[in-house]
Amino acid sequence: MIEIEFRNVGKSFVDRQTSQARAAVTNINLSIRSGEVVSIIGPSGCGKSTLLNMGAGLYLPTHGEVLVGGERVTKPVRKVAFMLQKDLLMPWRNIRANVSLGLEIDGVNAAERKRVADELLAKCHLKGFEEHYPYQLSGGMRQRAALARTLAVDPQVLLMDEPFSALDAQTKMVLQQDLAKMLYEKKKTALFITHDLVEAIALSDRLLVMSERPGTIIEEIEVNLPFRDNPLERRKLPEIGPLQGRLMELLKVGKETAELH
Ligand SMILES: Nc1ncnc2c1ncn2[C@@H]1O[C@H](COP(=O)(O)OP(=O)(O)O)[C@@H](O)[C@H]1O
Ligand SMILES: [Mg+2]
Repeated sequence: MIEIEFRNVGKSFVDRQTSQARAAVTNINLSIRSGEVVSIIGPSGCGKSTLLNMGAGLYLPTHGEVLVGGERVTKPVRKVAFMLQKDLLMPWRNIRANVSLGLEIDGVNAAERKRVADELLAKCHLKGFEEHYPYQLSGGMRQRAALARTLAVDPQVLLMDEPFSALDAQTKMVLQQDLAKMLYEKKKTALFITHDLVEAIALSDRLLVMSERPGTIIEEIEVNLPFRDNPLERRKLPEIGPLQGRLMELLKVGKETAELH
């Protein structure tokens, strides 16, 4: 089953200086199967966040349509969760109360909220921190809490916009491991944006490479490697280096600096 579909999608924004509409992304055709994890990589400003915002129903496309579960997205929907680089935890709520916010909005009773939140916090290695406040946690712990909050409403689709890019390398690898296990066990569908090429390879079934603005998909690569549930093991495979090299070529990493010398 196709879970997310972009059909001939384009999005333009009005340029403040010229007052003209200018395309941010163009001609996006993309289908993501249920349970598939797909990463998007591309230069800054090529429209990656714009694409995700359209998937979340926060932006409407200028052309074409976005479907989730076969239905056209025109506003945020329950089955889709969005996770950003910023953890956006509420400073006045403790970690358990932050994680269970979505359930509270849904009218779930207090005992059940506590059960769900504490179970997820344990899975995200935050047992014992349920009653701490966000300021008492490190950046990595806060991002784990944000992950638990994202999962608490049991979304079918996760849209993640560089969720680990503010973390140090080791913390990031541990969080990737937790995320990958949960996505795999719960058969979630995910569209993930990252600048980290190895992170994309370690976590995904498929990679999409975008061009510069106006962004469009210039290459699709099936990862076809074992250990989708275990990125730490996948990182050790000999195929990682060549695949990373191919992505660097597509993104022209190093070409511009080479021209400057
Ligand atoms: N709300 C907006 N209004 C005007 N321009 C926008 C808006 N959102 C994004 N853009 C522009 O669209 C382009 C793509 O932005 P974005 O999707 O954030 O890129 P990326 O996430 O790939 O870095 C950028 O040039 C950006 O300035
Ligand atoms: Mg972005």
